[in-house]
Amino acid sequence: MSSAWIAPHHVLDVDDLSCGELASVLDLAEKPPGSLSPVLGGSGVALVFERPSARTRNAAEMAVVGLGGHPVSIAAAEVGIDQRETAEDVARTLACYHGTICARVADHEVLVRMAGALDAAGVSVPVVNLLSDRAHPSQALADLLTLRQCFGDPAGRTVAYVGDANNVWRSLALACAMAGVRLRTAAPDGYRPDPDDVERVARAGGDVEVTGDPLEAVAGADAVYTDVWVSMGQEAEADQRRRAFSGFTVDAELLTAAPEAVVMHCLPAHRGDEITAEVVDGPRSVVWRQAANRQHALRGLLAWLHGAGVAT
Ligand code: CP
Ligand code: NVA
Repeated sequence: MSSAWIAPHHVLDVDDLSCGELASVLDLAEKPPGSLSPVLGGSGVALVFERPSARTRNAAEMAVVGLGGHPVSIAAAEVGIDQRETAEDVARTLACYHGTICARVADHEVLVRMAGALDAAGVSVPVVNLLSDRAHPSQALADLLTLRQCFGDPAGRTVAYVGDANNVWRSLALACAMAGVRLRTAAPDGYRPDPDDVERVARAGGDVEVTGDPLEAVAGADAVYTDVWVSMGQEAEADQRRRAFSGFTVDAELLTAAPEAVVMHCLPAHRGDEITAEVVDGPRSVVWRQAANRQHALRGLLAWLHGAGVAT
């Protein structure tokens, strides 16, 4: 390891940022796209996808281009993490060509190992999580950006999350905690936050409020958020999950308890399961704003990681 080594700032979940850093990323994300300096300066950004993606891949590629970098999207079979070679060797290989490694992985531990391998080798290349089974931080950044656009500073607002306490929920819960947003969660038995989640959100300054009653969570909320009942990799559990989540659909009747609330969904949406077509396609839905914000949030994050100041 050379003495010039600077530890990279890996972002595997939202709480890898401090509250101040999170605010800086969002401030950068809010800047007009062309106003940020091209901090990537022609350097490569590896975008590895072990799972399908419409929004994240396109948002990330365009964010990299917007900062003067060169995105290279890589499908699972091309690198074969832990099949063709180890996650550690994939990370070290990609770091030979790229200044940032972003990855969507089936197993969160793979990201931890990639980041660890780069640190151990003294390589100053950050690893960014583009969704794992545990977390989806770049989604949560876009969600906070959306809340800012809807409400100004969202501190003191209430988001009701109805559904699975999954990867999207974990990152959203951390983001809300760090931004002073109250998050109320409605989930059925067996799909609620586990004690580790509760402890981690508490460390981030939040409080996990969980109920089995969607109406109780949604009553008077400023935003109602849901995600799929069956995440990528859980397809074998689809029938069991659909049974468990019956009664947790975000529909027009549930929304009568929160007459002013906007409706959020990370997408892809399954109309008729976690949300009705009437709601996701209705006037209170901000899902397409969230989707567009994925690019702005990733641009803000990459700009921040590569040293752009908020005033630039
Ligand atoms: N919300 C989200 O991450 O979408 P994709 O899976 O299409 O990237
Ligand atoms: N929870 C979902 C999010 C998709 C963006 C999944 O992991 O499939």
